[in-house]
Amino acid sequence: MPRNQTAFLVNDLEIKGNLVLAPMDGYTDWPFRSICRELGSSISYTEFVKAEDVLQRPHYIKDKIHFTEDERPVFFQIYGNSADSLLKAALILQKLEPDAIDINMGCPNRSIAGRGAGAGLMRTPIKAARIVKSFSKSLDLPITAKIRLGWKDCQNGMLLSQIIEEFGGSLVAVHARSKEQGHEGKPDLNTLAEIKDRLKIPVLGNGGIRQVDDIENMINATGCDGVMIGRGAVHNPWIFSRRNRHEVKPSEVQELMLEHLDRSLSFYGPADGLVLFRKFAAEYLKPYSLERETRRELLMEVDVGKFKQLAGEIFSTIN
Ligand SMILES: Cc1cc2nc3c(=O)[nH]c(=O)nc-3n(C[C@H](O)[C@H](O)[C@H](O)COP(=O)(O)O)c2cc1C
Repeated sequence: MPRNQTAFLVNDLEIKGNLVLAPMDGYTDWPFRSICRELGSSISYTEFVKAEDVLQRPHYIKDKIHFTEDERPVFFQIYGNSADSLLKAALILQKLEPDAIDINMGCPNRSIAGRGAGAGLMRTPIKAARIVKSFSKSLDLPITAKIRLGWKDCQNGMLLSQIIEEFGGSLVAVHARSKEQGHEGKPDLNTLAEIKDRLKIPVLGNGGIRQVDDIENMINATGCDGVMIGRGAVHNPWIFSRRNRHEVKPSEVQELMLEHLDRSLSFYGPADGLVLFRKFAAEYLKPYSLERETRRELLMEVDVGKFKQLAGEIFSTIN
């Protein structure tokens, strides 16, 4: 699908293109989101923020939800286990004018799901319904949710997605794995297809997309309106331009890597900007066979000038 073509609507918001960067804590900050958006991701989901942090530690979430106008549509993602705190936090976030607010119902981490938030909400469908209903009644923007197929002993992704639609949600993203699968294992495209088939609101399919072919496979197998790509995009942001990583020339990798670094430096400042960029640098360099020591030296470098010089030397041996 061409990037400028409307793929689906979230209420009356037109979404151009059907590939979406998945929200990822510690990864989908402004530098990385803005790059993926330019390469073709059609929605910028921010990494999740905890409702209580929005209410009590606004300084802590400031960077996570920073966005620029050219990044729109921007969806803020929120998590929590208290319907009351979630709504209060969403009312505050709404003032920052995101295009939608997304409720996380998929995080499997024990510290979150074990406390009834994230995927924990899938075990309490009445509470989940109450949260979606209160959001759609009290907020003036679209409400969306990201879910899983359910828990091993309670595969209620269909019920949850119907609840989300029934109580005013405008889109559901379905990570086609169970809570117990975490981020591994084969996504269940059959159940994803059943969910898509039953809903009127748009459905994004998520899980396991690594190559360009995986995109069409998921769409053809499920009829989903679009796909959400997580780790596949960290390794290959060009996937949003429908290019596999091996098709991208080292000179392009070098250029994007330095652009990404510069955005990280300008956003976080020189010290944090370089440290927070290391995990991305490792992904940009992953396909190349470098000496372990060369890679380590680059990734441990604390001086920006030296980092860039070393990166230049590394690419001169690759190009
Ligand atoms: C490091 C990491 C952080 C994540 N953080 C979030 C998050 O903040 N919100 C969310 O809904 N999902 C989060 N996820 C889940 C992803 O959005 C996605 O559902 C998952 O990675 C499966 O997609 P993939 O196979 O394309 O990576 C995270 C995943 C990873 C690996």
